[in-house]
Amino acid sequence: MRTVSYLTEHNFPHQVRGKRFPGRILRTVRSQWHAESELPLVRIVTFKHPSLPAEFQNLRLVQVSDVHAGTFMPPSRLARVRELVEALAPDMVVFTGDQLDRRDVDADIFVHGFAGLDAPLGMYGVLGNHDHMAGAQLAIEALTAVGITPLVNRAALLERGRARLLVAGVDDIDAAPGWGPEFGVLQRTAADFRLLLCHQPNGWLRGVQQGAEITLAGHTHGGQITHPGGRLNLARLATPFVVGPYLRNDAILYVSRGVGVSGLLPVRYGAPPEIDLITLRRGLVPAAT
Ligand SMILES: [Fe+2]
Repeated sequence: MRTVSYLTEHNFPHQVRGKRFPGRILRTVRSQWHAESELPLVRIVTFKHPSLPAEFQNLRLVQVSDVHAGTFMPPSRLARVRELVEALAPDMVVFTGDQLDRRDVDADIFVHGFAGLDAPLGMYGVLGNHDHMAGAQLAIEALTAVGITPLVNRAALLERGRARLLVAGVDDIDAAPGWGPEFGVLQRTAADFRLLLCHQPNGWLRGVQQGAEITLAGHTHGGQITHPGGRLNLARLATPFVVGPYLRNDAILYVSRGVGVSGLLPVRYGAPPEIDLITLRRGLVPAAT
């Protein structure tokens, strides 16, 4: 068990309890919250790609996106998400941004919720726009405190025999001044296969230009509040890549609905929270339909 300490000077349980809503409103939103987002779904996804080295055949990773640790995502609830990830026993865990909601105290909530999580091939994470609201440096410290390697315009090289798989991460497109994405990180290290972590799916094609075979993103929350049939989805105003897999030639993008909620009320509708168990296999990319 990793030992963790507080990153901020706040007494965070008091801070969390300090957020109050009128009872009737709270009961209404809670009923929706419990119905759709008490515990995330596990989406089972398999990606085939011809460039995946045989040495990494059947690599299993869990993607955890948009946790939004904070008022609506306390450590107790995050601990249940952590237990769910642990039960899947992945080779690797990746966090694709918005680990924190918006306050500096959210860093402590994240750390105490995910403390103890581990994976044989490591855990890696990037920052999202909400991490920058909370404070980019603090968000990096929160990742590090849990044992997650921050990939803010950095990459980690996994080697099996002579095969090299690059796990690269870029900073957020809407980063704070002085920060920002450098997609050239994908080309700084020689590799046979490049996996990119990029919080906002709108960065996908910039990553493809730099050789990303598979890109994992979040940010949209699947729209968070949508028409159940998917016909009305406000996320489409911001990006054509709202949820699930997308294909451009042999390049794959996967957008997770993520775990948490953003906004003033903990509401999801028609876009249930999820974590994603992704298996990589060597093979032909299915033709786009
Ligand atoms: Fe988010």
